[in-house]
Amino acid sequence: MADTKAKGFPEGFLWGASTSAYQVEGAAYEDGKKPSQQDIINKDSYERFGFATAEVASDMYHHFREDVALMKEMGFKAYRFSIAWSRIFPDGTGDPNPKGVQFYHDLIDALKEAGIEPIVTMYHYDLPWALCEKYNGWISRQVIEDFDNYARFLVKEYGSDVKYWTTINEQSIIVQYWTQKCYIPAELQHVGQLRYQINHHMNVAQALANKAVHELVPGGVAGAALGYAPVYPLTSKPEDVMAAQNAQALRNDYYTDIYFKGFYTKAAQIYLEEHGLAPKVEPGDMDIIAANTSDFLALNYYASECAKWCPDDGSKMLRWSGVNRSGKKGDISGFETQPGFYEMCKNPNLDTTDWDWAIDPRGMEYMLRDLYNRYNKPLMITENGLGAYDTLTPDGQVHDDYRIDYLSKHIAAIKRSIDKGVEMWAYCPWSALDLLSTSNGVKKRYGFIYIDRTDDDPKECERIRKDSFYWYQKVIATNGAELSL
Ligand code: BG6
Repeated sequence: MADTKAKGFPEGFLWGASTSAYQVEGAAYEDGKKPSQQDIINKDSYERFGFATAEVASDMYHHFREDVALMKEMGFKAYRFSIAWSRIFPDGTGDPNPKGVQFYHDLIDALKEAGIEPIVTMYHYDLPWALCEKYNGWISRQVIEDFDNYARFLVKEYGSDVKYWTTINEQSIIVQYWTQKCYIPAELQHVGQLRYQINHHMNVAQALANKAVHELVPGGVAGAALGYAPVYPLTSKPEDVMAAQNAQALRNDYYTDIYFKGFYTKAAQIYLEEHGLAPKVEPGDMDIIAANTSDFLALNYYASECAKWCPDDGSKMLRWSGVNRSGKKGDISGFETQPGFYEMCKNPNLDTTDWDWAIDPRGMEYMLRDLYNRYNKPLMITENGLGAYDTLTPDGQVHDDYRIDYLSKHIAAIKRSIDKGVEMWAYCPWSALDLLSTSNGVKKRYGFIYIDRTDDDPKECERIRKDSFYWYQKVIATNGAELSL
């Protein structure tokens, strides 16, 4: 008889956490690094909203040995981080910057010495600014060749120490929030089709990066890191259920089908074509994509989403996802609307964070089961976490029981998925340490390690262990068996 007992996390499961280069490193103009588009975008966000710039961030560039020691103390088995393209190639192409190249060797060596497996993301929103100036960045096809050159350099340089490669972070989120994630000249911001054109360039680029890993890293594995939110229908009315399927097709399957099957999801592509939003595909592009599919999928899961039917009778206009800048519940500036396909909406059954992100551990289980059933490929969680205001007490502590509650429920959801047969490699929540949020400065915190700074004042960026630090230490030590405080 088959063993039906719950098994939980396998031996060798990669417990860890994640960050991205521009959100933690700082040293934005040091040791030969030149600006990335995020240095420019975040400078603008500081001027407009008062959110911190990326100039110092969490100052990890200068604190990385201390940070790796703290990760070791928590018991990390893995650390997912990204490499800043403009630290390696300050102008995007040309000669590599020796000090930048050395920085990541030093970081990887420190991790290896601490027994921590590096999971490296090649690209996390921070295109070298020089390429924006030269040809408008991801809008131009030239970026495909330049990314391929950069990816090949990375795998040749670090491939002997790095087995796990995630190529491009969150294409789905880049499509939705493109001006936060990419520099888009003001005069082009009304051209919705360019969102999907950028995404297409990324699809070809990330397929070439998979190819580079497969060719150059013995035993190496590659796949994208995707921002993924499963979509529920608002009601059981057939038209709402259909809308949820449409939203699932355009917001999720449109990416996962490319990564694993090598083609664009038909219903989504037809909708885009009918609405003048479809990307221009050059001969040979789809062959490259189909020949270089992914080994696994890295998932960034924060929330589920909800959709309802949206008529195409002129009563609703095309609209992209809104954002909550204030951190006051309910301040979200709107929901994505694709007339004739779906309209996103709030799920009345779920509580949200202060930034209006639905809290839904069951959604994570739903996502993992669904993706594994459909593609049968190993999965990792490379982001999951609660953005919250944390308070540093006068005696230097951070009591973030709300974060522990959030994370423990999500870990329990992963465990249930594993018990139902899903192959999971890693859990790397967001984030190892507090960092610069992509949309809300540094006051919205995610880390196990508190960074003592404000949006206006980077201070010394002192590192302070939160309550969740000690809790996660216990979770890892028991291989996920002990989830309570
Ligand atoms: C993911 C990104 O979308 O969400 C991260 O990969 C980001 O870079 C995280 O920080 C949380 O979003 P935010 O806007 O709260 O920083």
